[in-house]
Amino acid sequence: MPSNHPKMQPPADTTTLIDGLEQKDVVVSIDDEGIAWLRMNRPTKRNAINPGIVFEMNEALDALELDDRAKAIVITGSGEAFSAGQDLKEYFREPDSGHPMMRERLHRANAAWQWKRLMFYPKPTIAMVNGWCFGGAFQVLLGCDLAVADEAAKFGLSEINWGIIPAGIVTKSVAMALSQRAALYYIMTGETFDGRRAEQIGLVNIAVPTDQLLERTKVLARTLIERNPVVLRSAKVAYHHCRDMGWDAAYDYLAAKSDQNVVRDPEQGGQQGMKQFLDDKTFRPGLGAYKRSE
Ligand code: COA
Repeated sequence: MPSNHPKMQPPADTTTLIDGLEQKDVVVSIDDEGIAWLRMNRPTKRNAINPGIVFEMNEALDALELDDRAKAIVITGSGEAFSAGQDLKEYFREPDSGHPMMRERLHRANAAWQWKRLMFYPKPTIAMVNGWCFGGAFQVLLGCDLAVADEAAKFGLSEINWGIIPAGIVTKSVAMALSQRAALYYIMTGETFDGRRAEQIGLVNIAVPTDQLLERTKVLARTLIERNPVVLRSAKVAYHHCRDMGWDAAYDYLAAKSDQNVVRDPEQGGQQGMKQFLDDKTFRPGLGAYKRSE
């Protein structure tokens, strides 16, 4: 079982909290490199996703969208879990026996942050999987653009073990991300697997030993922060839309999206990059990013 290693936790001493956000089930902090850490914070409940996490995540993502200090977002968990998935008591049992519209509202708010908000979030997002990751937590993981995991983290689509299917939008996300063989294997057996296996099947980008998890995540975040943010956002939105489009429509859409960047990008990245390569000969696009003006 993954340990509660200090290197797996965001650096509490170098952070600034966001004004006006009540932080209980989600702790938000921004470090001096511009990495915003969103930590699901119910360690004694293995960060099971309750209404508190649902509503606080929506608020936090809204706040960070407008906070210019936050340049990349990392979502992780407190203690030994990333998240044990949806809270069986507070997300399922209690709302199931309450007012049907309240249940509806909760599920809608959950889809809002885990799926729609994260998929098209205007800033780059990374899931840092520091431990247990089950069921609904797969949606958090796959909602993020990229993912780094502790090799010892334990993953599982455990729904089948307790007699339900991976709903919300988990089955769809898993089907988009994994091969049919891997997806059906884990959906149908409910078996757990570790971070290394998650990397093999493409569920995470990188799996590292516990003591490297935090630093490797920061390196990845720094890489994303160096990139042109307008173009980065555009590239991600284009990826998600193109997956569901026909070829002709995608071709036309990408041309229009490229033109949109020319209008929206205040630093005119494409022009700068070309000039630095062709005229100034100060960088090679194949080997890294162009130098952005301060
Ligand atoms: N929903 C509600 N409560 C949960 C939870 C969940 N998904 N996952 C853990 N908890 C609670 C437990 O009920 C327990 O609460 P208690 O201390 O009040 O009894 C506490 O968190 C600790 O859980 P415990 O099972 O004792 O921890 P563990 O370290 O031995 O095991 C897990 C960790 C993640 C393997 C185990 O808790 C588990 O199987 N959780 C459910 C995972 C799951 O199927 N998620 C899918 C939801 S979509």
